[in-house]
Amino acid sequence: MNTRVHTISEPAQTARSIFDLLGGEPGVRALVDRFYDLMDMEDDLKELRAAHGPSLDEARDKLFWFLCGYFGGPDHYIQRFGHPRLRARHLPFSIGEAERDQWVACMGRALQDAGTEPALVDRLLESFYGVADWMRNRAG
Ligand code: HEM
Repeated sequence: MNTRVHTISEPAQTARSIFDLLGGEPGVRALVDRFYDLMDMEDDLKELRAAHGPSLDEARDKLFWFLCGYFGGPDHYIQRFGHPRLRARHLPFSIGEAERDQWVACMGRALQDAGTEPALVDRLLESFYGVADWMRNRAG
């Protein structure tokens, strides 16, 4: 089991090449759009969808800005909002095991649909799992 402590300010290893490998800003935008399209559409992601408001437009922009920096590209999110403080920013939403697992599954499908190399998908999902698990704020 992976016991490393994940903090959102810790850049992913070889982050710059991850941003490039994913196709820079157009690639990350397409990934995020696919992520929210899937969340909106797939029956087994409905608890995750229900935790969001009626519109996903703001979430799309914010996750795009955040992931550009997280993958080692431009820090669009920090420039607009300062430190991500993701755990604190997610406290208004109920996050348990189902929401954590659905977020990671949704991202896995979006990465696969983008044609991302399987080894990179595994590595990114491991890292996202750590972050999503740390954001749980509800038992069960
Ligand atoms: C690794 C996992 C995750 C990452 C990297 C992530 C990232 C983000 C970011 C960057 C924002 C924008 C924060 C802001 O400025 O307000 C956000 C918003 C949000 N996240 Fe997450 N998140 C993750 C997991 C989750 C999970 C598991 C849930 C389940 C409930 C969730 C629900 C939401 C909701 C409801 C919003 C507000 C969207 C809006 O503005 O309309 N997130 N997330």
